[in-house]
Amino acid sequence: MATAIAHPNFALIKYWGKSNHLLNIPAAGSISVTVDKLTTETTVDFSAGLERDVAWLNGKQVNDKEMFRLQTFLNIFRKIAGENRRAEIISSNNFPTAAGIASSSSGFAALSLAASSSLGLRLAPDELSEIARRGSGSAARSIFGGFVELVAGDRADGRDSIAKPIADENFWPLSILIAITSFESKKIGSTDGMNLTSETSPYYSAWVESTRQDLPQMRAAIEARNFTKVGELMEFSCLKMHGTMLSARPGLIYWNAGTLEIIEAVKDLRNQGHEAYFTIDAGPQVKILCQEKTKSVVLDALDGCPHVAEIISTRPGPAAYLKES
Ligand code: DP6
Repeated sequence: MATAIAHPNFALIKYWGKSNHLLNIPAAGSISVTVDKLTTETTVDFSAGLERDVAWLNGKQVNDKEMFRLQTFLNIFRKIAGENRRAEIISSNNFPTAAGIASSSSGFAALSLAASSSLGLRLAPDELSEIARRGSGSAARSIFGGFVELVAGDRADGRDSIAKPIADENFWPLSILIAITSFESKKIGSTDGMNLTSETSPYYSAWVESTRQDLPQMRAAIEARNFTKVGELMEFSCLKMHGTMLSARPGLIYWNAGTLEIIEAVKDLRNQGHEAYFTIDAGPQVKILCQEKTKSVVLDALDGCPHVAEIISTRPGPAAYLKES
């Protein structure tokens, strides 16, 4: 039995589309920042007494569709370890699940570490990242802390599609504020949403191609601690991804009225000389990137947005780790 803790990450350059569905290989790379404070804690126990895998998320047994995904994922570890026993997974998030707060990133990262450790496998972080990616693309990045790049790789077997750290969590103490506009679970998950987009959007190939061009620019901007460039590129990638989603058939709209309200508030702040930038994933929540000196004015502006239900204040956070029993 082992327990692992992982933090979610938010993409600065987004991943939205796969080149291989079975191995879950992304069509293009992506760059993210892992955050502190938000956690998924997962315990995995392989036991001879179990007839099938079971999983509990936030105290509720997971449904058959999710269970199939988890079972397939656990099979990867069983195969490596030569193991037949079934497992019980107990997992909880200290933040709203499946509402666009990247719960699958921390979820599959924590599960990878807990499952491998409970089977006595001592996998290096990049091996773990490769396996975590097969559970959920964004999870490959949450194996590492700070600023991270998931490389698409060239190999057909996906072995080189792994995350690599760009800079650790102490490199740049930016503020990442998460403005929650709804606690409802999203109706179309990321996997289904990106598959619909890649199958139907006439803009999809341009999205993938332009993301490839954004990656070296974002990497360089992070390394140079160029806040304006990071913010500008982050918004560009976010709006481009949502533009591509909108052009799917039927179009995918993850935003609500609160999402737009916050976008306007962030733009107003910039017009007033306070540098802050937004990003949005497959849900209505908005993440705002700012520097410490601007944090209080951004918080005041968010307080003035009637649709903001809660604000979570985070910073770059650590890699996934095992909890000592
Ligand atoms: C919008 O990693 O959840 O958050 O690999 O199908 O599990 P799967 O997708 P997932 O997608 C994340 C999409 C995103 C952008 C990002 O995190 O890069």
